[in-house]
Amino acid sequence: MPDALTLGFVPFAAPAKGVFVVFCGEGLKLGPATAKALGATAGLVARAGKAERFTGKSGSSLELVMPAGLKAGRLIVIGVGKAADLQPRDFVKFGGIAMGKLPTSAREACVFAEMPRGRMSAEQAAELAQGVRLRAYAFDRYKTKRKEDETPPARRSVTIAAADAAAARKADGPRAAVTEGVLLARDLVNEPANVLYPAEFARRAGELKKLGVGIEVLDMRAMKKLGMNALLGVGQGSRHDSRVVVMRWNGGRKSEAPVAFIGKGVCFDTGGISIKPAGGMEDMKGDMAGAACVTGLMRALAGRKAKVNAVGIIGLVENMPDGNAQRPGDIVKSMSGQTIEIINTDAEGRLVLADVIWYAAQRFKPKFMIDLATLTGAIIVALGHQHAGMFCNNDDLANRITKAGLAAGETVWRMPLGPEYDKQIDSKFADMKNTGSGRFGGAITAAQFIKRFVDDKMPWAHLDIAGTGFDSRQNDVNKSWGSGWGVRLLDRLVADHYEKK
Ligand code: BES
Ligand code: MN
Ligand code: ZN
Repeated sequence: MPDALTLGFVPFAAPAKGVFVVFCGEGLKLGPATAKALGATAGLVARAGKAERFTGKSGSSLELVMPAGLKAGRLIVIGVGKAADLQPRDFVKFGGIAMGKLPTSAREACVFAEMPRGRMSAEQAAELAQGVRLRAYAFDRYKTKRKEDETPPARRSVTIAAADAAAARKADGPRAAVTEGVLLARDLVNEPANVLYPAEFARRAGELKKLGVGIEVLDMRAMKKLGMNALLGVGQGSRHDSRVVVMRWNGGRKSEAPVAFIGKGVCFDTGGISIKPAGGMEDMKGDMAGAACVTGLMRALAGRKAKVNAVGIIGLVENMPDGNAQRPGDIVKSMSGQTIEIINTDAEGRLVLADVIWYAAQRFKPKFMIDLATLTGAIIVALGHQHAGMFCNNDDLANRITKAGLAAGETVWRMPLGPEYDKQIDSKFADMKNTGSGRFGGAITAAQFIKRFVDDKMPWAHLDIAGTGFDSRQNDVNKSWGSGWGVRLLDRLVADHYEKK
């Protein structure tokens, strides 16, 4: 689908038409280039600010229609608060805020990349652009009619006026690739399950070939041959066959071990025979948000030609009740050889991950493995929607992920692991069972289950994104149901620690 937003960079100057967006600090402080571009209109801003009690507080705004002295049809002044309070990640945020303040009907806008303290660096201007693009995203391909005042123009153009437009454009290249990765992940999560079933997801992941990503799709035969019976058991009640997709980006040294990302891709989770209640079940079209994040990340790394070897592996299934569906009490033998007693067919994500993680480790011997999964309702009870739950067997990896999350504005909170939790998944009949023994600590027993498929010496992190992957992750840079959570965090992790400089 073509992008309805075009975004470009121009030198500092007031625009000849459209919406003009500038930033101001507390006490209506303007940067020098902004003051110059506004000219005499700055006086108007001061007067209107007084009348409207607009002082430049962070996130507040002042709007002037047909501002005297400017060619633009509308001036929007956005407050950024005290200069000292500005954080590095705020540039993306203010890009999102700027985009959000544009009237729906706006065709053209120019955002001035200057803070009250002075010009933004090329990097910061590119971050502003990222915020604009992330905020502009809307998943509306299934809307055939709309009220007139809610219909945006078919094409919108936003320019970022920057001190050094050429440098900003250059800095924007890799960042725009990361943004594309986020938007791809959002599209995949938002897509309904009658459209996005495992084979269709695999086809869409296959489109990354164009960017130089190596793609392999394991079909039913290949998975049976490998002995992925834990994954196959989850999908056996569905009319749609399961798939595993291996995506490889080789931007690093030939001999260097890859970093590995594994995603839960349950295209729809009814719960299976342990069926879920009807209320809210439609949300389970998003139970593939982990796989979407991994796919978006591969899009990002390839798009910006990251100097790293990375592999992304996603397990794609549909969990349905059916005459052929898996039953509670069934015992399956996973690819690792360990047997699993199925207690609850709704605890299916861990079964998928068990085989995919095992496969990833055996085949690629990666430097580390990070899995992402909308795994448990329990993690939402624990952390709400602000943090993803992180379970990790390696302090260095955990610290790096935590820091990358803070920098990207996609935060994680570390959760415990331990033998007391582990023994709760021992089974009477098999090596383990797929749920804990009690109601409590459900996100932890789920993580312990996955851990049984990871070698202790392999640095591994499990991110439970049930609370962040979809729904409620609405903020200044995301108004989409499917958030694309994790793409920016993991891209940052790779950029900061695993790329050849
Ligand atoms: N996909 C769900 C978890 C989920 C719930 C994600 C709500 C996002 C929002 C997962 O497969 C599941 O059903 N987990 C069960 C596990 C239980 C049966 C042990 C849960 O959390 O209730
Ligand atoms: Mn489930
Ligand atoms: Zn699920």
